[in-house]
Amino acid sequence: MENENKLFYIETWGCQMNEEDSEKLSGMLRNSGYSNTEEREKADIIIFNTCCVRENAELKVYGNLGALKKLKKTNPDLIIAVCGCMMQQEGMAQAIIKKYPFVDIIFGTHNSHKFPEYLNRTKQEGKSIIEIWNKEEGIVEGLPIDRKSDVKAFVTIMYGCNNFCTYCIVPYVRGRERSRNPEDIEAEIQGLVKLGYKEITLLGQNVNSYGKDLVPALSFSNLLRRLNNIDGLERVRFMTSHPKDLTEDVIDAISECDKLCEQIHLPVQSGSSRILKKMNRFYTREDYLNLVKKIKEKIPGVGLSTDIIVGFPGETEEDFEETLSLVKEVEYDTAFTFIYSNRQGTPADKMDEQIPEDVKHNRFNRLIEAVNKTFEKNNKEYEGKVVEVLVEGESKTSDDRLMGRTRTGKLVNFYGDKSNVGKLINVRIVKSNSFSLTGEEI
Ligand code: 5AD
Ligand code: SF4
Repeated sequence: MENENKLFYIETWGCQMNEEDSEKLSGMLRNSGYSNTEEREKADIIIFNTCCVRENAELKVYGNLGALKKLKKTNPDLIIAVCGCMMQQEGMAQAIIKKYPFVDIIFGTHNSHKFPEYLNRTKQEGKSIIEIWNKEEGIVEGLPIDRKSDVKAFVTIMYGCNNFCTYCIVPYVRGRERSRNPEDIEAEIQGLVKLGYKEITLLGQNVNSYGKDLVPALSFSNLLRRLNNIDGLERVRFMTSHPKDLTEDVIDAISECDKLCEQIHLPVQSGSSRILKKMNRFYTREDYLNLVKKIKEKIPGVGLSTDIIVGFPGETEEDFEETLSLVKEVEYDTAFTFIYSNRQGTPADKMDEQIPEDVKHNRFNRLIEAVNKTFEKNNKEYEGKVVEVLVEGESKTSDDRLMGRTRTGKLVNFYGDKSNVGKLINVRIVKSNSFSLTGEEI
């Protein structure tokens, strides 16, 4: 077969969306005969799938690109491709090729399905290709996906975002909301179940507005109820939910449908209504807390996680303390905490009262301390309990334990039978830590 013995290496930064795009790039390359390698030095093709949600993510790309110059020198046939969200920013692709002229292919988030074509073209023509589409086209179905796990899979149900939170670059680089047809989603999941997958996580920047653009429209809760009927599927999760759009029918669906896991990722971003307004989030602190109350009432033991930004322009010590007090009140199971990062082209970038770096870092450290306490407290409640765990594989700890997750999303490490990978088993929790649980198979 053509390209047999040729290897590709993909490095992915950023969110699950990027991970899934990389799985598609990998699937397309495998279809053309290439194999995957984890070692950059051995690769014939190197792809960097970039993220631009915070400045840190971009800096990593620059550092890594610089290091490729040497590899290209020793192997002039090496193909280097750069893609993803960072490339969708105005002028970025040109700046990259100017600074790193050895890059062969640059493409964006809307045309990654064209990658095999660009690859052939650059090989034939021997010159660099830059192709960025500015607008999203319809959804491309049927691309091969080379998934990392054999047990759980991510399935994108909608692309893009219409929310324009004032700090966020995502709507500019991922385009407007587009929902996949429910039939395509169902067919993909049925195919995965046939391959032995047990758990699906539905992905979208704002899954709760799923289906509003379809004709006829279909609500997210109705999609969830349809998926709950798929035979052989054991668990369904989803992310991300915007608090302004998470409606009661979705909460009801979780409490009523056996496959829908008791876990919700509900980014709050800030505990201050004043800052939430400046962020363009369309809910107040009170709205959010009421929503959490409703969720906890209807879904006992629910695993709640969130995203929080500190140091948004204009955030005072009082605003920040409101975030701390909200964290204590909600008692999250997991939280992704971020230092506000200026993103060119977003409204917040031009706001007055940018917060000095030292103040941001101080607040960040205090926030981490507060969220860690709530993780510990919640995890302690699991001690002595028996929980259902989907065994995903070997643990990342240095011993030979296995790992899996509870329905509520808790990571459990335990000694057990390797033949149980891919199965649902009962585990007794014997110890809790801040970020994981330790258990024993029963
Ligand atoms: N600075 C810091 N954090 C950000 N996020 C998005 N944009 C920024 C930014 N400019 C965070 C939000 C979002 C998560 C995916 O990334 O918390 O929910
Ligand atoms: Fe960004 Fe807000 Fe859209 Fe999330 S909802 S992707 S934070 S604009």
